Amino acid sequence: MIATIDNTSNAIEWAMSEMINEPIILKRAVEELEHVVGRQRLVEEQDIPKLNYIKACIKEAFRLHPFVPFLPPHVSTMNTTVAGYFIPKGSHVILSRYGLGRNPNVWKDPLRFDPDRHLHEEGKQVVLSDNHLRLISFSTGQRGCPGIMLGTIMTTMLLARMVQGFAWEAPDNEQFIELVENYDDICLAKPLVAIAKPRLPRYMYPTY
Ligand code: HEM
Repeated sequence: MIATIDNTSNAIEWAMSEMINEPIILKRAVEELEHVVGRQRLVEEQDIPKLNYIKACIKEAFRLHPFVPFLPPHVSTMNTTVAGYFIPKGSHVILSRYGLGRNPNVWKDPLRFDPDRHLHEEGKQVVLSDNHLRLISFSTGQRGCPGIMLGTIMTTMLLARMVQGFAWEAPDNEQFIELVENYDDICLAKPLVAIAKPRLPRYMYPTY
């Protein structure tokens, strides 16, 4: 449950930071919400299948900025060969989330935050998991994350409601958000601080 909270908040903090720095990406996310949901109600779970650009932004955050650098270690139960490498039974296998998500043999211009790369690939609905392990979001296989559905709902709802409810920009004294990673883990070194201005009709905000 801790991983659920950390994975979700880390992904959205990075996604928002990248999007605030790239106003065109933020604008496209807003446009998708305007089109799918409109301004008269808040995003609901039923909208998630149609929020493909929002999900592509989250998937980019998982790819570029995973919450921890490695998957929990696994032990191979039989001799096997992966990509030409012999892996004997009993090996400790540790996958690098960072290494896979930024692999230049798989991802063109890997350090660029580019949600479009997920839209082109999947054509129709974007899903946050990747069973081919070109990036690790929820991992895959028998020991992959069993919480994909809940994790997808939590991350998508969080980002979608933040983007739907507020217009975001960097603080007045800063031109852009500093995208620097922590030395110890790969969270944002400086927690995201941004200006949020309500963008929906007043009655949509219960605390008014
Ligand atoms: C954005 C949200 C989440 C992300 C990115 C995420 C990611 C992951 C990853 C990468 C693993 C390791 C898989 C592996 O070792 O191959 C994992 C394992 C696991 N996750 Fe999640 N998770 C999320 C949410 C959740 C939720 C909501 C639940 C349950 C309510 C959950 C329960 C678990 C459990 C029980 C495991 C261990 C599975 C095993 O070892 O067999 N996760 N998760």
